[in-house]
Amino acid sequence: MANKCEFLSLPDNNLERNRIISFSFNYDEIIIPEALKKFAKGKKYYIHTYGCQANYRDEEVMSGILEKAGFIKADSEITSDVIILNTCAVRENAEDKVFGKIGELKSYKQANKNVIIAVSGCMVQQKHIIERILDKYKHVDLIFGTHNITDLASMLNEVILKHVRLVDVKSLPGDIKENLPSVRLSSFKAFVNISYGCDKFCTYCIVPYTRGKERSRKMNDIINECKELKDLGYQEVTLLGQNVNAYGKDLKDGSSFAKLLDEVAKLGIPRVRFLTSHPWDFKEDMIDVIAKHNNIMKYIHLPVQSGSDEILHLMGRRYTVAQYKNLVDLIKTKIPNVAISTDIIVGFPNESYEQFLETVEMVKYVKYDSAFTFIYSPRNGTPAAKIKDNVSPKEKSLRFRELVKELEKTIKISSDSMVGETFDVLVEGPSEKDPSMLSGYTEKNKLVHFKGDISLVGKIIKVKINESHLYSLIGEIVNE
Ligand code: 5AD
Ligand code: SF4
Repeated sequence: MANKCEFLSLPDNNLERNRIISFSFNYDEIIIPEALKKFAKGKKYYIHTYGCQANYRDEEVMSGILEKAGFIKADSEITSDVIILNTCAVRENAEDKVFGKIGELKSYKQANKNVIIAVSGCMVQQKHIIERILDKYKHVDLIFGTHNITDLASMLNEVILKHVRLVDVKSLPGDIKENLPSVRLSSFKAFVNISYGCDKFCTYCIVPYTRGKERSRKMNDIINECKELKDLGYQEVTLLGQNVNAYGKDLKDGSSFAKLLDEVAKLGIPRVRFLTSHPWDFKEDMIDVIAKHNNIMKYIHLPVQSGSDEILHLMGRRYTVAQYKNLVDLIKTKIPNVAISTDIIVGFPNESYEQFLETVEMVKYVKYDSAFTFIYSPRNGTPAAKIKDNVSPKEKSLRFRELVKELEKTIKISSDSMVGETFDVLVEGPSEKDPSMLSGYTEKNKLVHFKGDISLVGKIIKVKINESHLYSLIGEIVNE
């Protein structure tokens, strides 16, 4: 492939901060250029996705477009003609992994000159990353961002026809596109976007810049998608948004997350989940809807990030420790036996040891059922990255380990309490560690391993728990 580079658009931090945009809903079908269809005949693609569920959902749409063009899914990168690295920018180590992978692909490209290598997703919404790729990784042919994955067919066509390197990373989201082709990664559990982007601008977070303004899909479009999934026999649907609770505010037509959740639950899908909840927007009517429907899983992911009022303020989280605790109390009162999980950042700039201990206190108070813990990672262009930090990396690691120890105490109590009890488990497939066992998740997202026939994959079955291993459980199928 020639080295000439064509720039259609480049990301711009000022535009990304600009929240005053208007958008409409686009129901047009994606058109595949004839030349791309010809090129795709007998060719294979592979998408390597990093990061969160929003990225996995993007992978499904990109697969849909590629298969509509005629490409076939490959089993690995090194048997494919088009490789897309669909990236995450939320922490530096996520980016390091991607650069490692891009580096690995160099020899494959040298041996297979016609292979097209593309990098997409949140990472390339940052100008310095694009510059680094263009400069150091000449074997990358196409760079495109989160706002134009639906242009994949025309971008590939351009690269193939013109023999150019192409960069098309937009800063503004544009219309919400419906009627997208999609190849789902699972035949029994699905993710459904309810909103895109985020308006919260937590000071450490890159997402509002990489995913743009918060935009809700219309309630009807979401419900129709869920209904189709139900008719196809899907057992679990997860409603996705950076802040699901803020759903509908921008539509100004009376739509709200409580209403949407209620309507989706009424469709009768066996398991309904939602991700992620921001404590600030979590209102009582939502709790009531979760409590009311048996098929809404009693599992709430409620990122706390810190247990210190000063740090929460510096993070721009918009709630205090007392408000978060009140919300947890209300949830626990209205939904007995609810499981609560969280995200926590350790070592925000200048966090004192006392402030860290307040986070440990929060963990003791809430008794989380599971948690994702992270060491703070400065993200270029975010306000927190400009703060001079006086906490050493070594100290941050020590605090991280201390926090995990505390979390493991409460997680152990919740896992141990399940021994002897029977739970509904949605069977995912053979266990990764021991393929002679099957694995699946309970309503409250606990991982269970058990012996069983492969034909059970995709079904909800009863499993009695015999052993608790902190992060997973061992059980046996109970026939009722
Ligand atoms: N450093 C560390 N963790 C971060 N997260 C988001 N941004 C950062 C960052 N700069 C974490 C938050 C968020 C989760 C998805 O990732 O805890 O909830
Ligand atoms: Fe990032 Fe905060 Fe938005 Fe979550 S709510 S995506 S942490 S800015």
